[in-house]
Amino acid sequence: MRNIQLKDGINISELSLGCMNLPLDDRTETEKIIRFALESGITHFDTADLYQFGQNEEVLGEVMKQFRSDYTFTIGTKGGNEFDAEKQEKITWNPSASHIKNAVKDSLSRLGVESIDLYQLHGGTIEDNKDETISAFEDLKKEGLIKSYGISSIRLNVIDYYLKHSNISTLMMQFNPIDNRPLEVVRNLDEDVKILSRGPVMKGLLSSNSRKVLDDKFAEGVLDYSYEELESAISRLGQINGDLTALSYAFLRHNNAAIVNGVSSLEQLEDNVESYMNMPEFTQEEYENILDAVKLIRYEEHRA
Ligand SMILES: NC(=O)c1ccc[n+]([C@@H]2O[C@H](COP(=O)([O-])OP(=O)(O)OC[C@H]3O[C@@H](n4cnc5c(N)ncnc54)[C@H](OP(=O)(O)O)[C@@H]3O)[C@@H](O)[C@H]2O)c1
Repeated sequence: MRNIQLKDGINISELSLGCMNLPLDDRTETEKIIRFALESGITHFDTADLYQFGQNEEVLGEVMKQFRSDYTFTIGTKGGNEFDAEKQEKITWNPSASHIKNAVKDSLSRLGVESIDLYQLHGGTIEDNKDETISAFEDLKKEGLIKSYGISSIRLNVIDYYLKHSNISTLMMQFNPIDNRPLEVVRNLDEDVKILSRGPVMKGLLSSNSRKVLDDKFAEGVLDYSYEELESAISRLGQINGDLTALSYAFLRHNNAAIVNGVSSLEQLEDNVESYMNMPEFTQEEYENILDAVKLIRYEEHRA
């Protein structure tokens, strides 16, 4: 497993485990997934305070405790949403300094750690008081409560502001050959800010279960693709490389992006790790064949 060095001395595995869809109610399966991830060399785990209204962080924190003595790993979490954990409902978007500072303390307590390796703003709008949020992140870093910070956003105007006015180390975006909208961001990104690609298998569309996922989850198409266009793109990608997950991972590596893959079962993680091991290294010509097989999509909103 390759490692990626982030700003602030954080080292993460190229393939991270996205924890949002872990089967939290089945603790044995969740533990098996995390153990297998660690044994496979995955050292970064992505969660958020909002996932299952705090429960995702809590379970992850508890499960990770048993592995602390044997493995070195990092956890990335996210905040900015106010929610009611009791009623299990999201209340409002709140990137104010006071909310962020309180949210970090809550996340530290749920995760059972003294410092958060990577704290990410879970969204953001151009209307936010972004300087206030940034100074909260800088304060938290100085206090040692977070080690590094980033944002998870697909809004180009927000991304642009954070790139120019903050010290973000990461930018999380949905990114894969089908949803290739981040390509324009990647082209203009400084070396020291890493893209964390969420959705690398596009909910399973880029996996060995592609056919079933296409019918079950994409019957209406997605983004600029109709169902038929998606079917045709997947078929063309399959001709380039039969292992669609390995193809997507190689596409992301070609773009210098890290991969954050979510799973809901051990079997899915086993498949994904095997694909990671079988990842081809694309020549420029092979990479361009991928771009020819798909639609090149552009973010249309939140640009200026
Ligand atoms: N705004 C944000 O910051 C944000 C938003 C979304 C996600 N995330 C983070 O990014 C991570 C990854 O994103 P994601 O979960 O949307 O995308 P993903 O990793 O592309 O999709 C995960 C889902 O794809 C299916 N899947 C995964 N591996 C598979 C395989 N080998 N075969 C068949 N199906 C497979 C599973 O769906 P089923 O469970 O239906 O089988 C799984 O739950 C999340 O876990 C989360 O940590 C962040």
